[in-house]
Amino acid sequence: MSSCVVAVDGPAGTGKSSVSRGLARALGAHYLDTGAMYRLVTLAILRAHIDLTDADAIAAASDVALSVGSDPDVDRAYLGVEDVSAEIRGDEVTRAVSAVSAVPEVRTRMVALQRELAAEADSVVVEGRDIGTVVLPDADVKIFLTASAETRARRRNDQNVATGLPDDYETVLADVIRRDHLDSTRAVSPLRPAEDAIIVDTSDMTQDQVVASLLDLVEKRSGAMR
Ligand code: DC
Repeated sequence: MSSCVVAVDGPAGTGKSSVSRGLARALGAHYLDTGAMYRLVTLAILRAHIDLTDADAIAAASDVALSVGSDPDVDRAYLGVEDVSAEIRGDEVTRAVSAVSAVPEVRTRMVALQRELAAEADSVVVEGRDIGTVVLPDADVKIFLTASAETRARRRNDQNVATGLPDDYETVLADVIRRDHLDSTRAVSPLRPAEDAIIVDTSDMTQDQVVASLLDLVEKRSGAMR
């Protein structure tokens, strides 16, 4: 296939990471996990003991040397030369990342870096929240994944239980609904589909079915581009 830039956006719990990796693999494309980049900055901010309510201090300390892998099969993230792939997925970073990713200077820096990384690749699947709307508005294919709040809560609760956390569907559901509201109403880069995005509801689909349907969409679009 000729070169192709695919933007995949949507909230957590839609299977976005797994299907974006699966799509990149099927296309032989690079993969860029922009959430990992926000997590890396967040880890650096936490390590510097910066007050998370101090946006100016976060902005001033956000110029960190970060790198993420571009192979969909290798989930690696680095601060400088240190491999922090596991640490950025930990609870502490997960709790702090919303505050850090809401700081406009952080977003400006990340968006610039994401554009550079995407431009270096021939074909690339870029996954995030604002890829089709802000980072790559000229992407060849824009996909916005959705799933009902109940489905996303069930998936997250299952993951929690699998990792030894308590089974508490009702609390997880309340948290999903609260975060949806915060994400879609925040001032900077609210989570919303681009006007030309294709919306795919993954509630009743397996991961393989989602990858197959995205692959089909990309092939149809790139056929139309030729
Ligand atoms: O996808 P994730 O859970 O790894 O994302 C981590 C955080 O970064 C999440 O709070 C949303 C935010 N994020 C963002 O604001 N913009 C992006 N393009 C990607 C992630």
